[in-house]
Amino acid sequence: MRLSVYLGAAMASPFAVCRLHMRVRAGLVKSLHKVDTSLRRNIVTNVVASSAETPQKDETDEKDGRKSFSAVQVERQGQAERSVLMNCPPKINEKKFLTYFSRHGDIKKYFFYERNGLYAVVEFANRESVESLLEAATIPSVSNEFPLPFKSRLLSLCHYGSEASPNQQSGQQCQPQTTIPINQLIDRLSRKESIDQQVTSLMETYQLTDDNIRLRFLVCSLLRDIAAAYFPECTIKLFGSSVNGFGKLGCDLDMFLDLDNISGRRTEKQKSGMFLEYRLKSVSTERAVTQRILSFLGECVDQFGPGCDGVQKILNAQCPLVRFFHQPSGFQCDLTANNRVAIKSTELLYLYGELDPRVRHLVFTVRCWARVHCITSSISGAWITNFSLTVMVLFFLQRRNPPIIPCLDHLKDLAGPTDKSVIEGNDCTFVSDLSKIQLQRNTETLDQLLHEFFEFYSTFAFSKMSINIRKGKEQNKPAKTHLHIQNPFDSSLNISKNVNAAQLERFVALCQESTWLLQQTKTNTSRSGKGGSASTPWGLATLLQPTKVAEIKSHKKRRAGLASERLKGLIESLKNGSQLKKS
Ligand code: GTP
Ligand code: MG
Repeated sequence: MRLSVYLGAAMASPFAVCRLHMRVRAGLVKSLHKVDTSLRRNIVTNVVASSAETPQKDETDEKDGRKSFSAVQVERQGQAERSVLMNCPPKINEKKFLTYFSRHGDIKKYFFYERNGLYAVVEFANRESVESLLEAATIPSVSNEFPLPFKSRLLSLCHYGSEASPNQQSGQQCQPQTTIPINQLIDRLSRKESIDQQVTSLMETYQLTDDNIRLRFLVCSLLRDIAAAYFPECTIKLFGSSVNGFGKLGCDLDMFLDLDNISGRRTEKQKSGMFLEYRLKSVSTERAVTQRILSFLGECVDQFGPGCDGVQKILNAQCPLVRFFHQPSGFQCDLTANNRVAIKSTELLYLYGELDPRVRHLVFTVRCWARVHCITSSISGAWITNFSLTVMVLFFLQRRNPPIIPCLDHLKDLAGPTDKSVIEGNDCTFVSDLSKIQLQRNTETLDQLLHEFFEFYSTFAFSKMSINIRKGKEQNKPAKTHLHIQNPFDSSLNISKNVNAAQLERFVALCQESTWLLQQTKTNTSRSGKGGSASTPWGLATLLQPTKVAEIKSHKKRRAGLASERLKGLIESLKNGSQLKKS
């Protein structure tokens, strides 16, 4: 119990100083204990510097080497809860660093990264070690400034004097947390020998690294510590590209504050005898509850959240949110609440990505291609979102012959009793056990699939048909929107209703250009030979050059111009000919 009691103080300690009441604290202790018990089941990580506990695998979660979405989430949350994030001096003796931290317990994993200075993430084998470490930390004394005594697991590693040690290292091995510039990527891809290799290399270069995912879960866990001071039973979950398997380094951090345990919706009413109810303030709508909680948490993050800047409360949006920038990680964070269906969509995308490696590769490539050509954007508007685009790729893969992935209705048929999920009246049930899903034999290469994807959407009947991954078939379009993609969990909704005609036209035009470009570039490479030292862009590298597409357009315009000139000339000559005949 000492662990839990301490964590009550340490994880939510800012409010220990401010206003954490005994009742809140008791709830926090209980919830942390619950999480701790469930976490002990599932932790599987690299042991870097310690003889940590023997990892255990939960057989129900991991079959044939692939883990269910929820198993991955539990494992990652566990790692995050046992981790601390710290700003380090620019030069650090790694051996001394490890010795210092090992005093508090076995270290399971650590890594350094650069972001306006050197940072380190240290994951301990046990949560007591975090407790011990935080007990040893002190409040900084800065002249002329008065620190807000909000303690968290974001720390500064300091040392007396200059730490002038003879064996001091000049720099730590830092994993990149951002993508390399596009021209470097194009150069890298141009040296590959096949489009399949290019697609693989693109993904290896740009996808989220294990360290980056750990950092994402840690930031989420730090935010949860803030929220838990008031809502001790809450959880904050990651959704979107941080966890759906399609995330690119630098993508935003989508978080969802789950208050379901607190709201009492799941509590069974007493049928007889006495019972107690909490006295609570009420507001008129569930949306108003969400807005009030997010507004308050936004204020807490703004006033006390270490490293959190630029807090914006976007409470009147369709899905109210608090947006802020987490300086130490460089993540743009969005916190929403009561957005449970987004977790389900994320899980569905993750599941499809796990089914066949080509899914993740193709989605990732198309998402990168779309971003380069400004088909998608980080700001909302009349353009296609990454979510819609991903659903379009999934639909294309369902339409292959034989299909590479099954439709959502099939995944629903395979679901077991524990998979049942109804959110806001919508059936979101689908199988979570990946081993139950049998795939058909399709041997198409990434090269073929990429080409076919562009061709498929170059000629898709957008004006009449809608995209429906639940059925795996296009259907007649019910509404007068330009692009109609059925929400997988609510067939009455269109996830791309924001897309205007111009944006859809641009998408189709770019698909046509890319089809043409892939044909051309293949012909060129067969002539000039691939993978040489001279890295002339070819294949996917050409597709990722924004200017190339513009060139094709003007080239095509020129050709169209020439053709019309030729046609005019022909008409003129025919006219002249007839005149000559007449005369
Ligand atoms: P990037 O942030 O652009 O890298 O991709 P992302 O997949 O995280 O997309 P985004 O941040 O826009 O959305 C996060 C998640 O919210 C998605 O993965 C979906 O689960 C959900 N989502 C986004 N847009 C929609 C939408 O239009 N309808 C529904 N139902 N869910 C959406
Ligand atoms: Mg996102």
